Parts: sequence; structure tokens; C-alpha cells
Amino acid sequence: MCGIVGYIGKQQAYPILIKGLQRLEYRGYDSAGIALIHDGKLNVYKAKGKVADLVQFASQKDISGNIGIAHTRWATHGEPNLVNAHPHYSQSEELAIIHNGIIENYALLKEGLIKEGYTFHSETDTEVLVQLIEYVKKSNGVDLTSAVQLALNQVIGAYAICVIEKSFPDVIVAARKGSPLVVGIGIDEFFLASDATPIVEYTDQVVYVGDEEIVTLQRGKSIEIKTIANVQKTPEIKKLEMTISQLEKGGYPHFMIKEIFEQPKTLSDSMRGRVSIDEKSIKLSGFIDNKEKFLNAKRIIITACGTSWHAGLIGKYAFEEFARIPVEVEYSSEFRYRNPVINEQDLVIPISQSGETADTLAAVELAKSKGAFIFGICNVVGASIPRMTHSGCYTHAGPEIGVASTKAFTAQVTVLLMLALLIGKEKGTITNAFYEKCVEELANIPNKIKRILEQNETISQFAKTFTYAQNFIYLGRGYNFPVALEGALKLKEISYIHAEGYPAAEMKHGPIALISQEMPVVVIATKAGMYEKVVSNIQEIKARKGKIISIVTEGDVVVKNLSDYSISIPDTEECFVPLLAAIPLQLMAYHIAVVKGCNVDQPRNLAKSVTVE
Ligand code: AGP
Ligand code: GLU
Repeated sequence: MCGIVGYIGKQQAYPILIKGLQRLEYRGYDSAGIALIHDGKLNVYKAKGKVADLVQFASQKDISGNIGIAHTRWATHGEPNLVNAHPHYSQSEELAIIHNGIIENYALLKEGLIKEGYTFHSETDTEVLVQLIEYVKKSNGVDLTSAVQLALNQVIGAYAICVIEKSFPDVIVAARKGSPLVVGIGIDEFFLASDATPIVEYTDQVVYVGDEEIVTLQRGKSIEIKTIANVQKTPEIKKLEMTISQLEKGGYPHFMIKEIFEQPKTLSDSMRGRVSIDEKSIKLSGFIDNKEKFLNAKRIIITACGTSWHAGLIGKYAFEEFARIPVEVEYSSEFRYRNPVINEQDLVIPISQSGETADTLAAVELAKSKGAFIFGICNVVGASIPRMTHSGCYTHAGPEIGVASTKAFTAQVTVLLMLALLIGKEKGTITNAFYEKCVEELANIPNKIKRILEQNETISQFAKTFTYAQNFIYLGRGYNFPVALEGALKLKEISYIHAEGYPAAEMKHGPIALISQEMPVVVIATKAGMYEKVVSNIQEIKARKGKIISIVTEGDVVVKNLSDYSISIPDTEECFVPLLAAIPLQLMAYHIAVVKGCNVDQPRNLAKSVTVE
């Protein structure tokens, strides 16, 4: 899950690489490092911790050079210390490599290299790869591109790598399998990165490197691509649709709060050109092009991880209610390894913000090999998952930098609801009147979110009361059950407070034993849905002295009077409540974490895209 950046051109590489690392820091922040070639020297500087630590360390060093590579690490092999930080030198210190991914057969390769006299300094799988490239290069007397190609033929695993060579300061060789890699093409210069964010301010011309492809970027020449199997490829240059302002905090103290506040806009963006109030209709081109697949699907399988999995659960409620199609929601990591029953009449929907999650990618490959139709829901344009699906729908939430997902979640839910309503309408399993009412209401959601965001200050005030808590319970029923799961995940990710999400009625089958006056319980108790039942569940908590924080519909007094703290959200159709109820839970998690002094944008141990298993 590391972030990698590379530059070759006329400019000084260091500032470009550092800025690029800062943009990619959401991908990992165990250590950072840089390699630059200048004046016949290959200088490698590394620091444990953040990019800022690297900058401080490098301030005393020679940072000149107009070719370089840089890395921010999320450790998989070897603890997050200085020695294991990338870039790694080869034995002769002629080569330096950065790597994102895992070399699965590294132990075997290492053993072979040790027999050949190679010595290792780090515990990483990455160092094995750079030694292997050097070994292959020397024993075959070939150039760097060929050495990388021959070495990768021996490697099992996932990688995006960049390699530079001291004696050839005019070339960067990069390759990918499984992990993402984008090349930016400027005038007489090239940029390389794990995603387009480090590239956007220099050029809008990009090439998304394909799986098992090797790229040679040479000064004064055009980009060259060939596969690991040695087949030449014609680079496909695409125009980048991204702006720098999307990547900056815009006056907010953290990306997470900026992204929470962006939701009225991001949901409008998700619906733009798709929801028409005048025509009272929803249009999704991925649906129109593959209508029969949707209408004939015997079953829908949703596969995702984390927050995207929670969005998928909301999708299940909607697909079953509106389209009357049975739905299974699978954790990608379980699905891919348990030989699931999949057939050609299944519609498989992978959901992923990043489009790079390794388990979801593997689940897609599996379902595809069994003949299912794959319709992806993804936020990052051009990422690996959308490139592997038959069709799909982008969520258009814009770049999400905060590691804890917020705006991508509500955008995913919006797309799922649009799709479910559309299938229901086409199948005739919902009435036209209901469909039109929902279309109209969907368009009102961004404004209703704005009203909830106005309560930010109130939420920040009462959040302070709960920093003492060691545990939280989140409860909801129906469409609000996945929202409870998501609320709990947000809190644990960024505040490190243990939190459990539960279906409200399930509480009495176990978790009720945990309730005491020390235990805050967040209950989503909106009018739409099983209101009375939830009120009874609240009474059960109250009787055991639990502290109640409720999310209620505007105008509610009953639950409000039973609660210690209460947040009102506007009334809406039951299926849209998650889009509103999620907002105060995001704000609450954010404020609790801020008061506790946690790093909300880069919580410990987490990374934004999980490109390893
Ligand atoms: C969200 O807050 C998490 N950090 C995480 O659970 C995330 O949703 C999960 O890793 C899936 O990522 P994806 O949507 O990019 O596939
Ligand atoms: N396996 C490499 C390491 O541990 C890269 C990790 C990654 O990409 O997440 O250093």
C-alpha cells in the first residue's frame, strides 16, 4: 500500500518527489525515502516516520538531481524502521528500487541469491527484488529494462516498482502487476506515481500502466512499454480529469472534515446527468447498455471491503425491496478463497473507493472467470477494478484523501439506490408513482445534508463529553443497521475507541450485557422504518443506565426525551435515511478523535488503499 513517485526531466527532482510523497502519504506513513542521481552519485536518503521527517533529514544533504524516485511505506515485510525503508540499493549500490506490493516467493529467491554471494541488510521482500535484478543484469550482460523483465519472470506476487541505475542517469524503468502505476507525460519530462495526484499539477496527459507491463522512460525519447512476456505495446495516452484544488484542504484543518462538508456537492456530482427532475427519471449509461443482464439476473452478489462493504449492505436492502432480486453481500477476502457458487446468471457488483483493493480485485477476477456479469462501482477513474469489469458506474465523489472514508461512502450508497430504483422501475416491481417520488426526493438529499452540517458546532460540543469512553455501541434497524456498522467503524478507525455496530433488536441476545452507565450507545431512531421497535430498544438501554445518543427525525420528541444527546435529521424516504444518518456519525467520530489529539487523516496502522492481502 505504499506510495511511489518518480521523476525524470529538466527540473530538480527533489521538490517534485517530496510534494508527490505528501500527496501519497495517505497510502502509508511508516517511513519515507528518496533516491537521486547527481554527478555520478546515486544518493539514497531515508527516514522513519512521515515525509516531514525525511524532509528534515534531507535538509542537510545534497538533494540535487533531475532524476529520482521516492517512496512512502506501509510495511508488510519487516518492521517500520530505517533499514527497511525504501529505496533499497542493490549489492553494488549501482541500482535503487522502490516497491509497492508483496513478492511472495522472496524467501526462495533470497536463498538463491545468498548462495551467489549476495548479502542483505533489510528484512524486506523488496531488497530481494533489487538484488535479483542486479544479479540477472550482471549474469546476462543486459540493460536495465531487460534485466527487470527477466527478473520479474521469476517473481510471484504483486508489485509496482521503479528502478534507477547510477551509471545511466537518463533512464527510469518501472513495472506493475496488481499494484497501481500511472505515468505523466510532460514536455521532455516524465512523472511516475501510484495515482495521478502527484502528477496533476504538471501535466494532464497520462498513461495508466497495464498489468504485467514494463515502462522505460528515457530522456529525449517517447515512453516505451512492453510486457513481462516481451510483447511491445502502444501507449494509450489519456486526459486526466482532476484539479489541484480537489487535492488541497481549502481552509479546513483536516481532509476528513473537508470531505464530510463536501457531501452536498459530491452527491450532486454523483447524480449529475443521471437524476432528472424534469423527466422524473434516472439514467445510468452502464444500465442502459446492459439492461438485459440486470433484468434477467437471478441473483446479485456484492463484493467489497470495509466501508464499501457497508455501502453494499445498504444496497442489499434496496435491491431486494425494489428490484426483488436476492442479494448476497460478501467480504471480498472471504469470497475469493471459499470456492463460492457463481454462475452466468449472477450479477456481481464490486464496490471500491480506490478501485485497487487487492481482495476485491481478486474477487472480480474469480467471478469473471465463472462467467458472471461484473458491474463495478468505483470512485477512482481508471483504477484497476473498473478496468477489469464489464461495465460500471463511477461515484464521482472526487479524490478522497482522508483515510477514513466519508464522501465516497455516501456516493456509493447513492449509486446503489439509483440502480435499485432503476431496476425496480424497469421490472415493474415498484410503482411509477413511488419511483417518481423517490427521484424527486433523491434530488433533495444534498440540501438536507446541508441542514445537518449546520449542527457541526453542537456535535463538536457534545463529542467532548465522550472522550473518556473506552467502548461504544451503535444500533440501527433495517437500512440503518449498516449505518450503525459504518458509524462504529469511523469511530474506531480515527479515535481508537472500541466500537461495535449491531442490529438494534439483536442487542438483547448478547451485547446488552455490556450496558452500564459508562457505555455510550448511539441509536439511529428515525421515523421511517421500525420506529416503535427502536423506541423499545432504547427503553431497554435506559433501564440499564446506558448513555443514549440518538439520531432522530426533525420534530421527534419521544426519543429526544429519552436521550442524553440527540441530533435531528430531516425526514425522508426510508431508503434515503442512510445518506442523512451517516453525516452526524461521521462528524461525531471526527470531533471525538480531534479532541483526543488523534491524527484523523492518517490514523495509525491504516492505509487508504489496501493493495496487499
Ligand atoms: C474506510 O474508512 C476504510 N479505511 C476501509 O475500510 C476501506 O473502506 C476499505 O479498505 C475498502 O477500500 P476501497 O473502497 O478502496 O476498496
Ligand atoms: N513489501 C514491501 C515492504 O514491506 C512494500 C510494502 C507495500 O507496498 O505495502 O516494504
